[in-house]
Amino acid sequence: MCGILGYVGPQNVSEVLIEGLRKLEYRGYDSTGIAVFSKGDFQLYRSKGKIAALVEKIGSEKPQGHSGIGHTRWATHGKPSDENAHPHRSENLVLVHNGIIENHVEIRQELESRGVCFSSETDTEVIPHLMEHCVKEGMSIEDALYSCIAKLKGAFAIAVFSKQQPEKIYAAKNASPIILGIGQGENFISSDIPAILDHTRKVVVLEDGEVAMIDREKYWITDFDRNPIERDPKEITWSRIAAEKEGYKHFMLKEIYEQPRALADCLRGRVDEKQYLPALPEVSLPKLESMHRVILIACGTSWHAALVAKYWMESFIKIPVEVEVSSEFRYRDPVLDSNTLVILISQSGETADTLAAMTKAKPSGARMISICNVIDSSIARKSDDVMYTHAGPEIGVASTKAFTTQLTALALLTLAIAYQRKSISNAEVRDMTQQLLHLPSLIEECLDMNPHVEKLAKELIDVRDVLYIGRGSSYAIALEGALKLKEISYIHAEGYMGGELKHGPIALIDKDLPVVALVSGGPTYEKMLSNIEEVKARGAFVIGVCEQGDQKVQKQSRGILEVPQTSDFLRPIVESIPLQLLSYHVAEQRGCDVDQPRNLAKSVTVE
Ligand code: AGP
Repeated sequence: MCGILGYVGPQNVSEVLIEGLRKLEYRGYDSTGIAVFSKGDFQLYRSKGKIAALVEKIGSEKPQGHSGIGHTRWATHGKPSDENAHPHRSENLVLVHNGIIENHVEIRQELESRGVCFSSETDTEVIPHLMEHCVKEGMSIEDALYSCIAKLKGAFAIAVFSKQQPEKIYAAKNASPIILGIGQGENFISSDIPAILDHTRKVVVLEDGEVAMIDREKYWITDFDRNPIERDPKEITWSRIAAEKEGYKHFMLKEIYEQPRALADCLRGRVDEKQYLPALPEVSLPKLESMHRVILIACGTSWHAALVAKYWMESFIKIPVEVEVSSEFRYRDPVLDSNTLVILISQSGETADTLAAMTKAKPSGARMISICNVIDSSIARKSDDVMYTHAGPEIGVASTKAFTTQLTALALLTLAIAYQRKSISNAEVRDMTQQLLHLPSLIEECLDMNPHVEKLAKELIDVRDVLYIGRGSSYAIALEGALKLKEISYIHAEGYMGGELKHGPIALIDKDLPVVALVSGGPTYEKMLSNIEEVKARGAFVIGVCEQGDQKVQKQSRGILEVPQTSDFLRPIVESIPLQLLSYHVAEQRGCDVDQPRNLAKSVTVE
């Protein structure tokens, strides 16, 4: 998720772009850049790091001009560096992009065969060169733009302009956001509202499959087939900080709602949609042929993702799988060998304990794959292969979209290995791959329950303890639900195996102790139903997480969190959504600092 910005108008464009990009930094901040049309050519400035680094690089003599584009990057392809920073240019064109071009390798190979030289590792750089190629064949920039976007596969929000028409900036949108800011004698293109609120509150939102053009006086919109679209500006009433959260009260709630898009981005380019098979270009599967054991290592929520993956890997790859907490593993003398696959899971890619665990495992010759969200992070760089979750920046300390995209990446990896080793049938791999493609819409359905969860949360805001119980892979979700609640609402919460209640914890049950039971199906459904009856008989306040319309659970529960019917395979991912919402609303109603809970940091880079 990056931030793009374009401006045409009477103001000094460098100032407009720099100030605007500062307000888009929450969308990504590993490199930034601007391109200003000045003295007959593009003045391009790009820098690894945040806006401050770019401002330093530009110096006091900011380029003077009245049209330009800018970008703040959350890297997806190509490490954070000056060369990979946007804007990217060809001879006559300069462009910024937010999204993932799935077929960038083929396009790059075709252009290189025609003698085009590339200066970056990014997927983005193929776009200006592809357009330039069309312009050199006699097309106008507009014709070149329409011709180029017809060839692009994947998500893109682009702003592009040429030296020949420097006061016309074009935009094209598919699956990544773009808005137009409409001013007096000036106009803007932006990923999001915060960047333009200091200049105008009149906004036109582009839809997927649309192209737009702005100059000082006007804008127009068409669809990808060049059919004109009339759309009047809307007045924005948000404050700027509200706009950064896109109107949500907290980043955490925004990130919970971003999950359908984040999961779609995580799946993008990793499924052969003709055959419905996983296709992981970033993982050298043949090197896993001799693998006879898997060890998953992580902390916190990422460790819960590892616990879920254990169930999948044992079922579908049929080899022993162990799950380790990084801070314990690093101080043990683990027995590993070159036929062990070590999978490190870390949103930040900088967690000290997980880094240390990696260092401990490395001498064994075990193959190291990491599942990270931050491109080129320390754990990612030190791995043999890395699968990025493409969740975009997660600002809230409590991990939500990072968790569900970790599970999605782990599910893809599991299916890809199972397919390669033929440990399950191709039909089973296809079926589960198709299920994964359907996951974003399942999550959308879960989010529809938010108003109900908000109401139910009211009943928990004054409790002291909550017990979460689950079995199988839902036990990991019980742990995750408990962690979410305790880390943002400061209510003590524990996740427990349903089958363990009778071995001690049931002594805890007394009148009105909330017990959140994950009982949305699967082989242990009846056992979980018994657990609910046991605790209800002792006065517990049961909240049942169950399939929509499950009367049995409803009869036994004082509160219900319904999820759409799904398979054992996807159940843990789906069950985590209502628990994210429950913890959010309890914390918010208790007046806690939801995005920055006390004593916590987003990335634990110390021991
Ligand atoms: C999750 O809600 C917590 N913020 C925390 O447990 C987190 O998952 C843990 O610190 C691991 O972080 P990582 O994924 O960046 O390694």
